[in-house]
Amino acid sequence: MIPVTKPYLPPLKDYQDYLEGIWKRQWLTNNGPLVNELELKIAEFLDVENFLYLGNGTIALQIAIKALDLKGEIITTPFSYVATTSSIVWEGCTPVFVDIDKKTLNIDPTKIEGSITENTTAILATHVYGNPCDIEAIDQIAKKHNLKVIYDGAHCFGVNYKGRSIFEYGDISTVSFHATKLFHTIEGGGVFTKNKRLHDRMNFMRNFGHDGPYKFSELGINGKNSEFHAAMGLVNLKKVDEIIAKRKLLSELYDQKLSDLNIVKPAFPKHADINYAYYPVLFENSDSALKCLDRLNKSQIFPRRYFYPSLSELPYIAKQELPVTEEISSKVLCLPLYYELSLEEVDLICRIINSIYR
Ligand SMILES: Cc1ncc(COP(=O)(O)O)c(C=O)c1O
Repeated sequence: MIPVTKPYLPPLKDYQDYLEGIWKRQWLTNNGPLVNELELKIAEFLDVENFLYLGNGTIALQIAIKALDLKGEIITTPFSYVATTSSIVWEGCTPVFVDIDKKTLNIDPTKIEGSITENTTAILATHVYGNPCDIEAIDQIAKKHNLKVIYDGAHCFGVNYKGRSIFEYGDISTVSFHATKLFHTIEGGGVFTKNKRLHDRMNFMRNFGHDGPYKFSELGINGKNSEFHAAMGLVNLKKVDEIIAKRKLLSELYDQKLSDLNIVKPAFPKHADINYAYYPVLFENSDSALKCLDRLNKSQIFPRRYFYPSLSELPYIAKQELPVTEEISSKVLCLPLYYELSLEEVDLICRIINSIYR
């Protein structure tokens, strides 16, 4: 069986070494030494000023929205994982979808201004598949209309844009370290901001608002993560460069083996170092994508319709027409891509796909 993804598991011994330390210290959670070490090592690895390690990428979005005091309408993308939209609704705000660009699959900046109203307070955009949004255009619109910008960078670990970590753009960027991500801590996530005041605020917010044992400086929530999760991160961080290199190799093999077919990949900007987080392909139409999915499933290979359906279809959202997103989500498949996947398996997947369409 070849799934769309498999979590990377380090050698057990490497994880056990960290467990011994946890047993000795008997410090399991609440900003322990491994959480602290992971935060510092991630900030150093990515060369960013500030990073807060959190329970997951969803609480990261919720804390970001709360820390910026957002109210009213938030402009966002309908082509993302459900957490991008649900976090907005969870925080009592209204998501307003703007259709995506059909080449990059990210929010289309040329359509944002048409959706801004007097109630708009922010733009929450996802760098889909680790593909940087049109950061300059979004920044210009945000400045002109006095809006905050949050980037959902769940897919972006290791992505650089114009020589800097992608997480350094926007007022706040978030990340997910869920087990399916190329760098993971089993469950986990975090927030990045260059604004020290926001950083300090989110630091209180993730720990119930505690400012010392008996004083509370903020409304807070439990957004913390544990020593066990941080330990997995510390082990996996040593391997990230190798993991990205392997994914690059597999992606290039897919490119080469599928080059004769009429399938398209999202366009990535020139000034980006990408992380090969996914291998998305756009088929000619929905029938073609479904035929491929069915044929691969019969061979025990399981690509995923990611993202499908459009988030405007969620039952708690007012319906909106978003023709580009609807078309793209109907014909996109993410092909299997993970560290353990072999070149032979990619070759097999491509031979099956080629046999359908040739
Ligand atoms: C785009 C996007 N945003 C947010 C999340 C939520 O992250 P988590 O699963 O860590 O809560 C995900 C998770 O897959 C995601 O893909």
